[in-house]
Amino acid sequence: MGRSMSKKILVTGGCGFVGSNLVPRLEKAGHWVRVLDSEALGRREHLGTFEGEFQRGDIRDSDALDSALQGIDAVIHLAADTRVVDSIHDPLHNFDVNVVGSFRLLQAMRSRGVQRLINASTGGAIIGDVPPPVHEGLVPRPLAPYGASKMAVEGYLSAWSGSYGMRALSLRFANVYGPRSFHKGSVVASFFKEILRGKPLIVYGDGSQVRDFVYVGDLCDGIIRSLDCDVSTVIQLGSGVPVSINHLIDAIRIVVDPLPVTVEYRDARRGEIVETWCDISRARGMLGFDPATPLHDGLRKTWAWFRRRNKRAVDRLLVACGDVAPLSQWQLMDFERGEGSDLDTDLSF
Ligand SMILES: NC(=O)c1ccc[n+]([C@@H]2O[C@H](COP(=O)([O-])OP(=O)(O)OC[C@H]3O[C@@H](n4cnc5c(N)ncnc54)[C@H](O)[C@@H]3O)[C@@H](O)[C@H]2O)c1
Repeated sequence: MGRSMSKKILVTGGCGFVGSNLVPRLEKAGHWVRVLDSEALGRREHLGTFEGEFQRGDIRDSDALDSALQGIDAVIHLAADTRVVDSIHDPLHNFDVNVVGSFRLLQAMRSRGVQRLINASTGGAIIGDVPPPVHEGLVPRPLAPYGASKMAVEGYLSAWSGSYGMRALSLRFANVYGPRSFHKGSVVASFFKEILRGKPLIVYGDGSQVRDFVYVGDLCDGIIRSLDCDVSTVIQLGSGVPVSINHLIDAIRIVVDPLPVTVEYRDARRGEIVETWCDISRARGMLGFDPATPLHDGLRKTWAWFRRRNKRAVDRLLVACGDVAPLSQWQLMDFERGEGSDLDTDLSF
């Protein structure tokens, strides 16, 4: 696959977790970027020294979409109501943002003649409870309104491709983890936050549940590669590696040492999927996707960001466990490795 030509790209929801990791990488790859975000969750300042344009606006607002699409070659659509549990409590709001908002985006793209769309979809939440590995050939049976909304959007993309010739690709993300995820309720972010609070990690069940954790840097590489893919289809992006929650906790223990990690096991939650991970053969074949970051390295980079963002909490915990020196050693090591340059200076995210 040839190296992508420089494009003018609109990233919806670009201030969120994935977007704030993706935008600098798109710029580094030579693309010009406009971000449209309502700041419902992300903030403009999370983009740091972003050189493109920021437009505060809602994807449900057709005027905002029309002006955001001016001069744009391709759209990467990340904006969404991303909270699965909230979608169960308030399915209408989830439908409004995810389905109505995405539909308006497609309409606005049609009016403006923008023919290229990369859509952030979801793996496990769309497919439901099936024996792993999850792959693109399975019939989706979402268990929560969030998964249903993503499935509906995939349907509209297929229709826009069939009816209007749009090149529309849906990327089904697995569990993404990485720096800039402090606001997320996902497993890795939640565990790091509990460690910073000096609280035990809560595990429902015996910890043998299996998930697919993909490092955000690898995911962004897959998204950028997909800009060169002209096929309208669905592609699963994950690590392809099944990891149990207990294994994840063991890896986290090593990464956060000398901070203590305690675990509290509770009764398994009804309806929780026991085992899910994905087959990424299609992504490897069609995109040349290669999620090469080992779990330990991805966790180390993620923890470096969490630790830096919460330096005072870490200091307090180190003093409490009688170990003060290692923090300065860690910081020195991180900056020697140049990791500091990839980290956010904003501490509110
Ligand atoms: N992070 C994951 O593990 C994961 C897994 C599967 C799929 N996804 C999908 O990837 C995409 C990005 O996820 P994320 O983790 O960065 O989410 P996020 O919640 O961190 O970011 C979403 C961004 O969208 C913005 N937004 C919300 N509603 C909006 C609206 N109406 N108009 C404009 N902007 C709006 C928010 O302000 C936020 O900046 C989402 O579509 C999500 O469903 C993420």
